[in-house]
Amino acid sequence: MTDSLRFPSTFTWGVATSAFQIEGASSLDGKGPSIWDTFCRQPGAILDGSNGDVACDHYHRFEEDVALIASLGVQAYRFSMAWSRVQPLGHGAWNEAGFDFYDRLLAALEARGIEAHLTLYHWDLPQGLQDRGGWLDRATTVHFADYAREVTRRFGQRLDSIATHNEPWCSANLGYGNAQFAPGVADAKSAIQVSHHLLLSHGLAMTAMRAVAEELKLPVKLGIVLNQWTADPATDSPADRALAEFEYARSVQWFMDPIFKGHYPALALAGHGKNAPDVHAGDLAAIHQPIDFLGVNYYFRAYCSAETPPQAAPAILGHTDMGWEIYPQGLTELLLKLNSEYALPPIYITENGMASADAIEGGAVNDQARIDFLAWHLAALKAAMDQGVDVQGYFLWSLLDNFEWNSGYAKRFGIVHVDYASQQRTPKASAHWYRGLVAAQ
Ligand code: FCB
Repeated sequence: MTDSLRFPSTFTWGVATSAFQIEGASSLDGKGPSIWDTFCRQPGAILDGSNGDVACDHYHRFEEDVALIASLGVQAYRFSMAWSRVQPLGHGAWNEAGFDFYDRLLAALEARGIEAHLTLYHWDLPQGLQDRGGWLDRATTVHFADYAREVTRRFGQRLDSIATHNEPWCSANLGYGNAQFAPGVADAKSAIQVSHHLLLSHGLAMTAMRAVAEELKLPVKLGIVLNQWTADPATDSPADRALAEFEYARSVQWFMDPIFKGHYPALALAGHGKNAPDVHAGDLAAIHQPIDFLGVNYYFRAYCSAETPPQAAPAILGHTDMGWEIYPQGLTELLLKLNSEYALPPIYITENGMASADAIEGGAVNDQARIDFLAWHLAALKAAMDQGVDVQGYFLWSLLDNFEWNSGYAKRFGIVHVDYASQQRTPKASAHWYRGLVAAQ
């Protein structure tokens, strides 16, 4: 193994999934519907017309899946809880049968000595809260904090980390900005207001969880997961440079500045004009509080061209099956930039990986393109660490092929292939490669 892929012995290796994408059992044992259950039923919303009713049937197969995780030799598993499984309406009564599922999952992880890294909100808002206004309604932030408190009280002792949100940029901009994701709203002003409520809910949840963790003396680490990218101007033109600067402000700084500096970035606020969010006194103080870790999800960079039509990214290393440019050096650049702009806690790369059109041939899946992608990105990550960025772990997206949101089952991100008809799991070549990489550390 080359030095570029040799990591510190304390580095945490893991794989990641999320509840809606793998669990299935969408209305079993008292689970309430989420906005994704509803969205999947809108004609045309999902590329292949599918839904999450069965997904990877992880609800029934979690023991087999935990055994798969163990077989990779990784130390850690990142997953999310379906809020409407444990609180069917998102307010009011808890559902013990839902908590029991996560109790069994945690027991299976504990039996194998695998760390549990929980995300509270990976996009599946209980429909019961959507019916009251969803993330546009400020009251949802308080319900989220109640949920966070309850989960921490019940499971905090058994969790290594809890992240409040996964990629609030997507919840706001794809859920409310361009209607690609649930709940399917396209309204710029709503998207920006929702982004503020998501941040506020993060702050309120942090306060609630911190109180429980202190009272019960829990060692659990508390933080948030953001999807981030550098924004590169396509050319040196003032228009491209201005576009790139605005893109970075509205996407990265918009979430980082309130958390780490206690204010919204002036450039983005000015750019949003009359769409700027309604922020109450005390909101920013609630958002601006210490976090124990920052989760960074990295998939691609933003390539900013003000021309019509815009110049396409050069994509020297090609594109993934999502059409995303493969740009590993963006991960190094992003981490160095964040490290120079903020006083950061330890970072975990909480997602990184690629979709490819994988198929089983002769009982195996040869996904060499994914192996290359992972090796390039891990080398880029190591380069940032060598230049002083404190990164403590890496979670590969994803353990399994799964429900890729509005792409349905048409896009495969797993290092383990899933045959959805039989639910058979087949580790791909990348899974064998990852096992070898982790073992060699
Ligand atoms: C991220 C999501 C994750 C998965 C990957 C491909 O934006 O957090 O659920 O869909 O993209």
